[in-house]
Amino acid sequence: MTSKTPTPIQLQINGHRHELEAEPRVTLLDALRDHLGLTGTKKGCDQGQCGACTVHIDGQRVLACLTLAAQAEGRAITTIEGLAGEDGALHAVQAAFLEQDAFQCGYCTPGQIMSAVACIREGHAGSDEEIREYMAGNLCRCGAYPHIVAAVRQAAVEATS
Ligand code: FES
Ligand code: FES
Repeated sequence: MTSKTPTPIQLQINGHRHELEAEPRVTLLDALRDHLGLTGTKKGCDQGQCGACTVHIDGQRVLACLTLAAQAEGRAITTIEGLAGEDGALHAVQAAFLEQDAFQCGYCTPGQIMSAVACIREGHAGSDEEIREYMAGNLCRCGAYPHIVAAVRQAAVEATS
């Protein structure tokens, strides 16, 4: 079998099992977007430099463009589509991004939000400086950074109160 032979891959995404046939070299990012229609996760560079593709695997933030879909088999993947509650209620970080106007074009936003959820969970949202440092892997060409920091701070305060 060559690396171009499509093989079955099973992924657990946002609590649901998905099956696809793809070449072993397909990235998790392409599997989500092109094979499963979960287009919330964005491709800004495909080289690990922008953070637009940030998702969670087993609760940790990872860059889906640098992760093979096959590597994610058997692990719990969470994407931006899986953050809101079953009743449609926004996650606290999603709500904070809206309230603080933390996006313009919205292209970096799914990655920013997934990164922010993990940043808060990691305990790296203690100050604006710390938030800036631990959110530095997510680029925003619209320059929404001050609003993003404010949103992360708001959600972090809510998470601990
Ligand atoms: S698309 Fe993955 S880091 Fe840019
Ligand atoms: S909101 Fe446009 S790139 Fe961040």
